[in-house]
Amino acid sequence: MLIKPDPRHRLSSVFVFLLLLCNISLAIGDENVQATAEYSKGASQCMSCHREGREPAAHEVFLGPMGISGAEKSPFADGAHDCETCHGPSASHRKKLKDGTRPSPQVSFAEGTPTGPQNEICLACHSDGNMIHWFGSVHEEEEVACTSCHDVHAQQDPVMDKLGQQEKCFACHPRTRAETFRASSHPLRFGQMTCTDCHNPHDGANDFLLVRSTVNDTCYTCHAEKRGPFLFEHAPVSEDCTLCHRAHGSNHDALLTQRSPLLCQQCHSPGGHPATAYTSESAENSFQNRFLLAQSCANCHSQVHGSNHPSGVTGLR
Ligand code: HEC
Ligand code: HEC
Ligand code: HEC
Ligand code: HEC
Ligand code: HEC
Ligand code: HEC
Ligand code: HEC
Ligand code: HEC
Ligand code: HEC
Ligand code: HEC
Repeated sequence: MLIKPDPRHRLSSVFVFLLLLCNISLAIGDENVQATAEYSKGASQCMSCHREGREPAAHEVFLGPMGISGAEKSPFADGAHDCETCHGPSASHRKKLKDGTRPSPQVSFAEGTPTGPQNEICLACHSDGNMIHWFGSVHEEEEVACTSCHDVHAQQDPVMDKLGQQEKCFACHPRTRAETFRASSHPLRFGQMTCTDCHNPHDGANDFLLVRSTVNDTCYTCHAEKRGPFLFEHAPVSEDCTLCHRAHGSNHDALLTQRSPLLCQQCHSPGGHPATAYTSESAENSFQNRFLLAQSCANCHSQVHGSNHPSGVTGLR
């Protein structure tokens, strides 16, 4: 569709051009507009107010890895703008206006401010390594801020800590928290494992933000013996562990999605088997019933994940 240029637009652009030509700042005379962005002379100016003991204090940033003055590529490197590398040019914030209000720093990272521009500040320094697939990841698309997970002012960022990390994740993923409290679960809530053993919260390259390209490759990083190779594979095992297991937790033994025999009977009909009728109604009083107690089908088919025995075709050994 073509849009005819509105002559008024052209007039106004001429007007703006004239303004620029005369170098007149549009903000002059308007105290509510953030004055032209200027940097202050550095951290010492900010720290005259934000020092320890004053609210809001900011001294802790110097105790963390990003606050090392002069370190290469740090916000406090020579030639960088110290606090304002992140907070943007904020000289005007240092003085109150006539009406007694204080202009906000250019970027406050306060809740409710748009995420895109905030994240860009961080990405200016952190775009390599495991950040390269940030764009297109679920968290990026859902406009999750870096600072929803990271606390850059803290001496020790809680999300880098084994238990602290989960608390951050659970704030937005309460269902996952519930799963980790089920009868059978990966030992997440004891801090013996972390979400980031299986997920890379920055990386959209793999489904479900997994650290490996498939579910199985992710599981094999710790359960390598399940990879095989097996003389006799069990098809669903090499296809996807989550056909039978829940990664976070389950109310059935061994993180299983279902109790046996129902687990197996989702895919295997009783027909043709040496024994039929394995549901609670049909197996009642039948002689096979006792074989379905305890490990159920696995009483006989113990090699559920695959077998290397020459006669292990049905996983009996
Ligand atoms: C003269 C004292 C003073 C100086 C100097 C000062 N601030 Fe502030 N700043 C405050 C006060 C007071 C607040 C609390 C919020 C308010 O009253 O507006 C604040 C709040 C902030 C906030 C939180 C803003 C928000 O909206 O949540 C940030 C970020 C900040 N200052 C950064 C800086 C930076 C960066 C510098 C140096 C360029 C700086 N401040 C210099 C007094 C100061
Ligand atoms: C690496 C980027 C970065 C640097 C460098 C940085 N800040 Fe911040 N600042 C943030 C972020 C992000 C927040 C929002 C709170 C959070 O997530 O930690 C914040 C919050 C603040 C607040 C509000 C704190 C509160 O309790 O409400 C103040 C004040 C502040 N910064 C001042 C400063 C001062 C002064 C410096 C320099 C000494 C500085 N910041 C350096 C990123 C930075
Ligand atoms: C001017 C460059 C710069 C900017 C901007 C910057 N960082 Fe950093 N960041 C660094 C450097 C340098 C380090 C320390 C060396 C390293 O770990 O790569 C670091 C370290 C970190 C770490 C590792 C902390 C740890 O405990 O190991 C995190 C997390 C981080 N930054 C998050 C952020 C976030 C979130 C923002 C935006 C609010 C941000 N950074 C903005 C330069 C920067
Ligand atoms: C959903 C939560 C989450 C979000 C959002 C997030 N991070 Fe992280 N980030 C983490 C966790 C968890 C770790 C620790 C990784 C580990 O222990 O393997 C981490 C580690 C880091 C590190 C240090 C280790 C490394 O990978 O170099 C940096 C730097 C970092 N994040 C920067 C960022 C930046 C920049 C953003 C925004 C573009 C961001 N993060 C968004 C959770 C998050
Ligand atoms: C043992 C590996 C593993 C660990 C540890 C793990 N996850 Fe997962 N997660 C997975 C797999 C595999 C999926 C794919 C979905 C499925 O289960 O079918 C997934 C899916 C998810 C999903 C999306 C689907 C859903 O279930 O809602 C979220 C959200 C999630 N995980 C959050 C977390 C959080 C938060 C933690 C840390 C408390 C965590 N995960 C720890 C393996 C893991
Ligand atoms: C500020 C909120 C927030 C935080 C904090 C957060 N997430 Fe998410 N996460 C989301 C949203 C929104 C989605 C997309 C909707 C959904 O699946 O729930 C998502 C999706 C996911 C998914 C599913 C990805 C997919 O492809 O379906 C995983 C896995 C995940 N997050 C892991 C984590 C981990 C691990 C942490 C902690 C390091 C974390 N999240 C922290 C908001 C958050
Ligand atoms: C970071 C290492 C790690 C990864 C990755 C991992 N696991 Fe585990 N897994 C463990 C640990 C540790 C245990 C607990 C062992 C114990 O309690 O003796 C465990 C236990 C299990 C159990 C037995 C639970 C029980 O109650 O007997 C199953 C089933 C399991 N994992 C399946 C998976 C699946 C499926 C995946 C991939 C989605 C996976 N694991 C990925 C470390 C891992
Ligand atoms: C066809 C269903 C099925 C699939 C698919 C499956 N498992 Fe299992 N898995 C089971 C059953 C049933 C048990 C319980 C067996 C028992 O109690 O002896 C189990 C137990 C486990 C255990 C704990 C006991 C042990 O043998 O170490 C781990 C770990 C495990 N599975 C990992 C995996 C991994 C990793 C995958 C994907 C490569 C996978 N499973 C795929 C059915 C399955
Ligand atoms: C997600 C579907 C699925 C589940 C759940 C499942 N299986 Fe299988 N199973 C298969 C497929 C597919 C084959 C391969 C069939 C073929 O090659 O004809 C197979 C093969 C077998 C075989 C070998 C059959 C043959 O003729 O070689 C046995 C025995 C077996 N499964 C037992 C079990 C047991 C025991 C369970 C429960 C612990 C179970 N299966 C759960 C899909 C499943
Ligand atoms: C009492 C031991 C025993 C129990 C319990 C048992 N099986 Fe079997 N199953 C066998 C034997 C033995 C064979 C091999 C028969 C043959 O080679 O002709 C077999 C064969 C199979 C086969 C191969 C194809 C076929 O039909 O011959 C499948 C699939 C199978 N069983 C599934 C199951 C499932 C699902 C369960 C649980 C509901 C189960 N089995 C319980 C002993 C058992």
